[in-house]
Parts: sequence; structure tokens; C-alpha cells
Amino acid sequence: MRYPPKSQAPEYLDAPDQDPVEFAGLLEAIRRTNRWYGGRTLILGYLRRFAAVIPHRPLTILDVATASADIPAAIAAWARKSGLPVRIAALDINLDILAAARETVRGLPEVALVRGNAIALPFPDRSIDVVICALSLHHFSFDDAAAVLREIDRVARSGFVVNDILRSWTAYAGILADTWLLSRNRLARRDGPLSVRRSFTWPEYHDLVRAAGLRGVWVRRHRLMRAVLVRWPQGLHEHETRMRPSGEARYGR
Ligand SMILES: C[S@@+](CC[C@H](N)C(=O)[O-])C[C@H]1O[C@@H](n2cnc3c(N)ncnc32)[C@H](O)[C@@H]1O
Repeated sequence: MRYPPKSQAPEYLDAPDQDPVEFAGLLEAIRRTNRWYGGRTLILGYLRRFAAVIPHRPLTILDVATASADIPAAIAAWARKSGLPVRIAALDINLDILAAARETVRGLPEVALVRGNAIALPFPDRSIDVVICALSLHHFSFDDAAAVLREIDRVARSGFVVNDILRSWTAYAGILADTWLLSRNRLARRDGPLSVRRSFTWPEYHDLVRAAGLRGVWVRRHRLMRAVLVRWPQGLHEHETRMRPSGEARYGR
């Protein structure tokens, strides 16, 4: 079998009424994944390039499906260090998760938490400079993931960066090993490998972009089994020479 079989089983992360201590451990496992496996660095690498060519200040950013908002917090810390004024909206549908996010963003007034649905983002067209979304498309069915991409594209004024896991045996083995060897959390041990089985293959990411009808969007393959979908701010891709992925294709003009 070329890919791990697709699963539609719901993750504990999306299921109500979890034990609060176990649930907090699951959120910590996601933050650790971002710290250890380049989730934050990946987003910051793109944002640095975007910020260099987008003149609008404060730079407005929306993080769709933010979980405990550690990526917005990392962006705020980086922006402060770089002297870049930012305003970040961190959106999630789950109130328990947003309660955890409140702790993460304490003392960061540039980050606002928003409860909302990624399938119907509560923002007008082209109202936010950059929209980001990490490790979240696999929480949706194919049709809903296409709808989320359409929403992100609608709201993003200058560009967007969406990334998620590539469904592959390497990712499956890696996450299985990570969650069983390095975590004792029952929810993370099930959700980790399941999230690989819920995610999309390299050809399916291309299908998603086509199904969403997106134009001018690049599908890129990054290390550590990530697919990245990017709409670059005007003219930027042509000058971008450093973050070369191992594969990429462009859809629409
Ligand atoms: C794996 S977590 C996201 C991780 C986070 N973006 C990061 O990179 O650390 C997936 C998130 O999607 C959220 N989610 C699921 N369905 C959603 C929806 N319809 N609208 C908004 N958020 C949703 C969940 O509540 C969860 O916080």
C-alpha cells in the first residue's frame, strides 16, 4: 500500500468532554510538536518574507484553527524583536481550547482570540494582510477542507500560508514513534498517528487546491513531511530563492 489508509475517525481533540488534565497534556503535545519539528520556524520563515514586501502596518495576521495559540505567541515575540507592528487574530471553534490559548497570550495585547468557524470565517473579503493555518486541514473532510481554503483565500489580502502533514508511511512511523516513546498522554498517542491517517497525500493536496478553485497558489513539499500551500504577496515568489522545497507546482494565474 503506497499510503497509510485514510481515516475519517474523529480525533479526541475535536471530541467534547475530555478529562481536563489529559486534554491539557494533548495541547502540550501539539505545542511540543511545533517547537521540536519546525512548525513555528516554518511559519516565521514565510512571514519574514511576506513582511518584507507588504507595506501595511500594523501587519494584520489571522491564524485559523489556532489551538493553544502558541504560533501567534511566537509571531508576536518575533515581531517585537524585529520592531514590526502586528495585530494577530487567533481563531478556533473550541471554547475549551480557547481557554488554554488565553493563558498562552497573556501579556500579548497584539494577539486577540476569536471564536469562529474556519468554514465561514467571520471577516470580510480581503480584510487581513496574511492568513496562516497550520496542522489543521486534516480536521476536515475533503469538501470542508476545500471550503476552508476558499475562506482563507477570500479573507487574505496579500497572501496566505497553509501547512499540514503529508499522509505517508514516513510521517506515520515518525509520529507513532514520537507519541509512544516521548509522550505518556493517552489522547496524544491516539490522535498523533490518527492525524496522519486523516491528512492528505501529495496528489490530494493538489486536488484540494483545484477543488477550491484557487488561483495563483503554490503547493510545496517541505521537509518533515509537510505540504505547504502558499499564495505569495505580489512578485515575491520570483525573488524567493532560499526556502526551496523539494517539490512544487503552481495552480492558476
Ligand atoms: C491540530 S489543532 C491546530 C494546531 C495549531 N494550528 C498549531 O499549529 O499548533 C486543530 C485545531 O482545529 C480546530 N478546529 C477544528 N474544527 C474547526 C473549525 N470548524 N473551525 C475552527 N477551528 C477548528 C480545533 O479546535 C483545533 O484547535
